[in-house]
Amino acid sequence: MASCYFVPIPTSSHLISADLSKKFKIPKLIHTKKRYDGSKVTAFYGLKTPPYELDALEPYMSKRAINRHWGEYHRNFIEGLNRQLEKDDILYGYTLDELVKVTYNNGNPLPEFNNAAEVWNHDFFWESMQPGGGDMPTPGLFQQIEKDFGSFTNFRESFIGASLTLFGSGWVWLVLKREEKRLEIVKTSNAICPIVWDDIPIINLDLWEHAYYTDYRNDRAKYVDVFMDHLVSWNAATERMKRAEAFVNLGEPKIPIA
Ligand SMILES: [Fe+2]
Repeated sequence: MASCYFVPIPTSSHLISADLSKKFKIPKLIHTKKRYDGSKVTAFYGLKTPPYELDALEPYMSKRAINRHWGEYHRNFIEGLNRQLEKDDILYGYTLDELVKVTYNNGNPLPEFNNAAEVWNHDFFWESMQPGGGDMPTPGLFQQIEKDFGSFTNFRESFIGASLTLFGSGWVWLVLKREEKRLEIVKTSNAICPIVWDDIPIINLDLWEHAYYTDYRNDRAKYVDVFMDHLVSWNAATERMKRAEAFVNLGEPKIPIA
């Protein structure tokens, strides 16, 4: 458990991009809090920028849509979380992953959970897309998908089916299950992030209406199709799978030969 005397400096992945901060007039997000001895500590999280220009996903996701989604909704989750953390010394000093898991509180979420998880989910979502995305997964990941879903077509249909049957707001994920050692598609409601169950996320898709209303109005099906065909980053998915394989052995045990 983190101590209230810990001085949490946000990780580099959560530092604010100076250029984009200026564009959107993002107010100072790094708060200070007085220690019990009267000195101040720097705390909390900043708004992570998407890994591409905000118009780079056009025409499939417009700059106007990302301006609203990232610049307003995502920022509101960050600011809401920071306001909550200002009042709570116990939650100082965690990485964002740790904060999501701790505030999930074994299924009895603390008030900070929704904002923390939505920050995590959105950071992951922006990096789950790329300009020129869609197409087919890279070799290796493609074979793993074929192994676990029967075919890429089956995977695609399952992912789309899960997205269209998700009730209300939430997310659809391609995850690697640690125990089962296989890829699966999971749906989560509202802010729930599958790292709370120890799944390893590979791809996620935001299915809150704010994610697609600007470009597609109520046509969730069109949005999901466009994501699969033009936006999903199989490069990011491949890198995530490589990292995941440090924790999950997907092949036969490899015994080093002396
Ligand atoms: Fe969103």
